Amino acid sequence: MSGKFIVFEGCEGVGKSTQLRLLKDYLTESGQPAVFTREPGGTPVAEAVRNLILDKSYEISPVVEAYLFATARADHVRQVIMPALRRGELVVCDRFLSSSYAYQGYARGLGFEMIKQINAAALEDCKPDCTIFIDMDPAISWRKQNGKTITDDRIENESVEFHGKVYEGYKRLAEADPTFVSVAPLPEKSATHRLILEALKKRGLIR
Ligand SMILES: Nc1ncnc2c1ncn2[C@@H]1O[C@H](COP(=O)(O)OP(=O)(O)OP(=O)(O)O)[C@@H](O)[C@H]1O
Ligand SMILES: [Mg+2]
Repeated sequence: MSGKFIVFEGCEGVGKSTQLRLLKDYLTESGQPAVFTREPGGTPVAEAVRNLILDKSYEISPVVEAYLFATARADHVRQVIMPALRRGELVVCDRFLSSSYAYQGYARGLGFEMIKQINAAALEDCKPDCTIFIDMDPAISWRKQNGKTITDDRIENESVEFHGKVYEGYKRLAEADPTFVSVAPLPEKSATHRLILEALKKRGLIR
């Protein structure tokens, strides 16, 4: 595998998409092409599964939810991520396996081991070279500060306690996984962006 794989993780509304956009602009302007994608989604089948997962009209048990994410991931890995990595490209993804560990494994209580098993076949050998973890307590996320908490998303609509557990799950992953980089976001989006660039350059993933 000659390409490199970067993942952004963190709780809802902490600025992942904002930072991905800034990274994309930087890479474009500095002549470093990359494939930007997101989970769940990134392919027609996976986007269809995403709509099913996030639809508030369904009641979905934790284990079924974990399988649905793994289903979307299996398609995304095979159709988009692995082909790009084999071509030697840089792939940047908004959420990946760690979200399943934090949300279904930790917050929903399935345990990390079950998530590992459910995702084993979905992943092939696909593993991030670096996970940028935007380390911000969801209780004080930027979106909350902006007063925009109303959403149609089934998972985002979960309780403050649930999102607090997700955050705790991420903290455990960050402690255990040396490829995690925790970035505490700053009020200046551009300052956070610079921290992320620095971390990725230090690891030789971008120039
Ligand atoms: N450093 C920052 N300072 C102030 N506001 C910010 C900052 N970063 C992001 N925001 C704002 O917070 C909101 C949430 O950001 P964003 O959508 O990037 O979060 P996210 O992590 O992608 O959320 P989700 O998981 O729901 O997709 C947006 O309105 C964004 O403009
Ligand atoms: Mg986002």
